[in-house]
Amino acid sequence: MKIIGTGSVLPKKIVTNDMLSEFLDTSDAWIYPRTGIKYRHVISDEKLEDMAAEAARKALEDAGMKPEELDLIICSNVVNEYITPSLSCIIQGAIGASCPCLDINCACAGFIYALDIAESHFQAGKVKNVLIVCAEEPSRMTSWKDRSVCVLFGDGAGAAVLTAGDNIKGIKLSAASATDKLYQKRVLEPTPYITKEEESIPLQMKGQDVFKFAVKASSGDIKFLLDKLGLKADDVNWYLLHQANMRIINSIRDFLDQPAEKFPTNVESHGNSSSASCPILLDECSKKGMFKPGDILALSAFGAGFISGAVILEW
Ligand code: COA
Repeated sequence: MKIIGTGSVLPKKIVTNDMLSEFLDTSDAWIYPRTGIKYRHVISDEKLEDMAAEAARKALEDAGMKPEELDLIICSNVVNEYITPSLSCIIQGAIGASCPCLDINCACAGFIYALDIAESHFQAGKVKNVLIVCAEEPSRMTSWKDRSVCVLFGDGAGAAVLTAGDNIKGIKLSAASATDKLYQKRVLEPTPYITKEEESIPLQMKGQDVFKFAVKASSGDIKFLLDKLGLKADDVNWYLLHQANMRIINSIRDFLDQPAEKFPTNVESHGNSSSASCPILLDECSKKGMFKPGDILALSAFGAGFISGAVILEW
């Protein structure tokens, strides 16, 4: 399997740290040094499904592929306005594809998990071309009165088109259940029979526990793959890490003892866009012409669950 096209879409509304301090007891002086975030793109009048379909169209155009050539669409999404049908079904219709499609919820690690599912389909000989779309609106999950959470996130969609090839060198998936560290709950429709107490709770986060897990899991997943493939950290040309927090990225970089130039970032201008973060960064770097054929890329992401995953691939 190999990536032959990428695309991404961001909402037009830009929210700076100073804009947040107009209604929250926060400041750029607090947010930037702790997170590396200066501003983020937040959905206003856009629909997430439209952004997802647009990212998909861009990736198909980049790949020079028609929607009818797709054999599978995988959409990674934590939440959107539709409970059902799945976002992948909506994307399928919007882009004019006719292949099977499925959604996954693997939190911020969704792109890596989607790559693993796609790779399994290629290895089983079930597909020739696959589209992955990661579309997320975490701004709709947080309470905008909770300064410790809402400042961290931004919205967006990223997509990748995959075709046959042997460019995926290894994928490592991990999970360590810790459901009280990062979670959101919602109340479903009432029935005449529900007797348990229920409440909707916006996204809750134990920031320092998430931070420690992120550094340990991401460093561990990448190291596992490097060892398995007989590679050294130096052999990787580019590290594309989940854009959650600049300090997490720097800690993983310290662990790998690699120069900052190998770690492209967009957390400064995007915030954490959950599973869309990796494919958006991949698309932005690809469109800047940063990757040469034969370059080795390591992608790694972590999120609620906890779950994490990494992939090493040849561009
Ligand atoms: N503005 C101003 N003050 C804030 C604030 C904000 N936006 N958010 C929290 N604070 C305050 C807290 O209330 C606390 O005040 P107190 O000491 O009076 O109680 C203080 O800042 C320190 O809070 P703390 O949570 O200990 O800060 P921290 O140094 O751990 O940094 C994070 C917080 C969230 C930046 C950090 O823990 C982190 O990055 N965690 C990982 C988050 C992440 O990546 N999540 C997504 C993973 S997919």
